[in-house]
Amino acid sequence: MATINQLMTMFLSLIFLLHIAYVASSDLRPGFYSKTCPQAEFIVRYVMKNALIMEPRSLASVMRFQFHDCFVNGCDASMLLDDTPTMLGEKLALSNINSLRSFEVIDEVKEALENECPGIVSCADIIIMASRDAVALTGGPNWDVKLGRLDSLIAYQEDSNNIMPSPRANASALINLFQNYNLSVKDLVSLSGSHSIGKARCFSIMFRLYNQSGTGKPDPAIDPYYRKELNKLCPIDVDQNVTGNLDATPLVFDNQYFKDLVAGRGFLNSDQTLFTFHQTRKFVELYSRNQSQFFEAFVEGMLKMGDLQSGRPGEVRKNCRVVNAPPTSSSYS
Ligand code: HEM
Repeated sequence: MATINQLMTMFLSLIFLLHIAYVASSDLRPGFYSKTCPQAEFIVRYVMKNALIMEPRSLASVMRFQFHDCFVNGCDASMLLDDTPTMLGEKLALSNINSLRSFEVIDEVKEALENECPGIVSCADIIIMASRDAVALTGGPNWDVKLGRLDSLIAYQEDSNNIMPSPRANASALINLFQNYNLSVKDLVSLSGSHSIGKARCFSIMFRLYNQSGTGKPDPAIDPYYRKELNKLCPIDVDQNVTGNLDATPLVFDNQYFKDLVAGRGFLNSDQTLFTFHQTRKFVELYSRNQSQFFEAFVEGMLKMGDLQSGRPGEVRKNCRVVNAPPTSSSYS
């Protein structure tokens, strides 16, 4: 005969299993808000259009959120949470501090959505829609996004520190990292093409300009003329928050990034290594010649990355920066 304790444990396991099964079957799908908030996608696109007018770079900054959100325990907007006295947020994680920006654009989208249909659209879905819009509005492909995510109840600063790659990373480390998420070598290269828009800090390239792999010398893969430009932008005593363009057309989502890599004009080590390394080079060459193939592969990669889910419990936050307050007894009266 099972004891009360054993029965209790079996009951709790069943609940847990049911919960996981529920999460696994709660498939994301296009048009998730078509009945509950039909204007949702228009509202996001509208705010992103305004952001483009106000500060063109902010679209790149927002697009980057999808990567930094989805790689750390799934696409759950955990990286949007501010620090609290009891929880360290991801905004101060190694790859994010002094680097992730334009959180206010997401705040604006959220406010507009809360006015239209309160409590319906998750911050995690906002990131996915806004990233797609950033690409489409800067000249890249447009695609249908799958929606229906929930927002996390906590942030994972330590996981972010451990997971997010350094700008020093080489292609083989990046291949391994992406493989953990079922993302292929092709996905790695096409998704890196997101660096077709936006900027990075001198901080991210000082080592490759002055001390690549501890040699005391620059990265030999940099084209010498480009290196002169970079040395001018980021002299050894520079304020390392000074920024440079990630490719030659930083406001246009196109395949210029790959053309630059072929010419030895990649900004980050993690970019240029994709051309140096044999396994990734063929994709760089292909995308440098064929923009439509790049766009197609990029959309495929974004959809796969957007499917990453932790299966942990969640909610639809009212404010993307904080979890909802737990209901108090007075909420029920
Ligand atoms: C493959 C591994 C990747 C590495 C190592 C990497 C690293 C970086 C670094 C170091 C920066 C500049 C940070 C700074 O100096 O402040 C940056 C910027 C950026 N990253 Fe990545 N990244 C990777 C993949 C991705 C992916 C998959 C996406 C999106 C799909 C993405 C989107 C962006 C964008 C748009 C910017 C410019 C942001 C801005 O202008 O504010 N990156 N990335």
